[in-house]
Amino acid sequence: MTNSEQTSVLVTGGNKGLGFETARRLGAEGWTIFLGSRDRGRGQAAVDDLVERGVNAILVPLDVTSDESVTAAVQRVRVHTDRLDVVINNAGAPGNSVAPADATAAEIHSVYETNVYGPVRVTHAFLPLLQAADNPRVVMVTSAGGSFAVVTDSDQPVSKLHELAYSSSKAALNMITVRYAQALPAIKFNVATPGEVANRTFAATDMNNNTGALTVTEGTDSIVRLATIGPEGPSGIFIDRLGSVAW
Ligand SMILES: NC(=O)c1ccc[n+]([C@@H]2O[C@H](COP(=O)([O-])OP(=O)(O)OC[C@H]3O[C@@H](n4cnc5c(N)ncnc54)[C@H](OP(=O)(O)O)[C@@H]3O)[C@@H](O)[C@H]2O)c1
Repeated sequence: MTNSEQTSVLVTGGNKGLGFETARRLGAEGWTIFLGSRDRGRGQAAVDDLVERGVNAILVPLDVTSDESVTAAVQRVRVHTDRLDVVINNAGAPGNSVAPADATAAEIHSVYETNVYGPVRVTHAFLPLLQAADNPRVVMVTSAGGSFAVVTDSDQPVSKLHELAYSSSKAALNMITVRYAQALPAIKFNVATPGEVANRTFAATDMNNNTGALTVTEGTDSIVRLATIGPEGPSGIFIDRLGSVAW
């Protein structure tokens, strides 16, 4: 069993990009890392990397689009602990940037499977473990594209990126987070976007062919901040690394 003094976190999509960097940073703080990865080999390589750095990391095979996979992930975590302090719903799919006139329900549905139903599937399944913690926190990784304020600001590049699936999936995730926060006050539910909205920047990862101006460390500042908030911390807020983001 995991040492009860150690903070524990599940990071979905933890095998690379922002998920891996979040796992690395929280692991360096002495946290137990349950590293979710839909591909066992990629996940094991990431866990091996963390273990080499002295992190207590455990592989959790986890495809957020599969009920069976999420159920098995809960069982796997339960082998090691009877409570979980933090869940970070980081796994995300960018979609294919299909022009709205050409977008089909099927295309949108596949993005929602990962970005909307995935976090709900994972959160719902892990609620009993979270509820056993003293200060449980759920961090949802969203995007500036999920903000109505940002998307309707003509100075923001995303206002000219015409697509339906990704931005609306993150907007749905934002609302879902607020509704969880209102309904479950014993758990902190917050939303982090990896970029700097005011500076129109994002973090370089495979999702954007590494074109972002920010490093993954900068990109995870908002995620780490929300993962580490104390008992008096907020619930139902939306931040980037610079501060509050308008919904
Ligand atoms: N980079 C940015 O600046 C930026 C900006 C806004 C929002 N975000 C959000 O940040 C999060 C992380 O993205 P990233 O930039 O780090 O991209 P990334 O490097 O492409 O990582 C995405 C991660 O999600 C995993 N994933 C995808 N579908 C999954 C599924 N069905 N089940 C489990 N894991 C799955 C991927 O696994 P595989 O390796 O198996 O594909 C990978 O680990 C996403 O939610 C993204 O929307 C990023």
